[in-house]
Amino acid sequence: MAVRVRKAVFPVGGLGTRFLPATKALPKEMLPLVDKPLIHYAVEEARAAGIEEFIFVTGRGKSAIEDHFDHSHELEELLERRGSWEQLNSLRDWLPPPGKVAYTRQQEPLGLGHAVWCARHLIGDEPFAVLLADDVFLAPTPCLKQMVDAYPGKGGMVAVEPVDSAHISSYGVIDVKRKNGESVFEVRGLVEKPLPKDAPSNLAVVGRYILTPIVFDYLNRQERGKGGEIQLTDALSWMAGKAPFYGIQINGKRFDCGNKSGYLQANIAFALEREDLRDELAAYLRTVKL
Ligand code: G1P
Repeated sequence: MAVRVRKAVFPVGGLGTRFLPATKALPKEMLPLVDKPLIHYAVEEARAAGIEEFIFVTGRGKSAIEDHFDHSHELEELLERRGSWEQLNSLRDWLPPPGKVAYTRQQEPLGLGHAVWCARHLIGDEPFAVLLADDVFLAPTPCLKQMVDAYPGKGGMVAVEPVDSAHISSYGVIDVKRKNGESVFEVRGLVEKPLPKDAPSNLAVVGRYILTPIVFDYLNRQERGKGGEIQLTDALSWMAGKAPFYGIQINGKRFDCGNKSGYLQANIAFALEREDLRDELAAYLRTVKL
């Protein structure tokens, strides 16, 4: 029987310095994309892929995330008194079930590999997903669902997309054995943020991973990589040499909400998808002189 991916890790400890001052007192994962925080999209995507347990690796100043995924009794009572049932349901129907959310803290900013390692005891012995809230997708099938559907039940998998050489050094890049047109392919190794001339391909990792606990064997060593951080990419490259490892090219459009331009583009694209906002926004965009 195929092994199901039931748990997901959300590393949300990062400081979000690119969005200062907006992120001085607000976690960057709580920045709104139209009317839902970025982290909300990642959790919805995980649920759509069948994830049942949600593990947040947080840090100082991130308690707004915990409040977001909890009941707000005052607000719910107020809406109940007013009879605003639709609004009330819109606050309640996406909350993770009681006891299915866990928070652990990354006590030092030592990198993404370290953040995932902090969740090791909550993972146990089963495959798990990792979702970075900065990467948001508009896709016919949610990104993680595409991965889970293609996951063969063992080994690792990363979502990738082609990136121009000018931007490749912002990503983890895969070294790949790919026959023409395959959407799932074997990965031989990965390099974190290579110079364009050293990039093993043009396929960049876009913030979605399915991993097995074997990755902790590497992360336990706490080896520092690029920028002096414990890099998840290095652990994955090691893993690709030990276990089957796959890349999957995602069908859909990704937005990098970790930078201002990507974030603004995502807001426009997601708003244009909404019936209640589309016409007015489109009318405004047609008047903008460039
Ligand atoms: C992280 C990872 C990188 C990956 C990227 C996707 O980088 O280290 O390998 O390609 O996320 O968004 P960051 O964006 O945190 O610099």
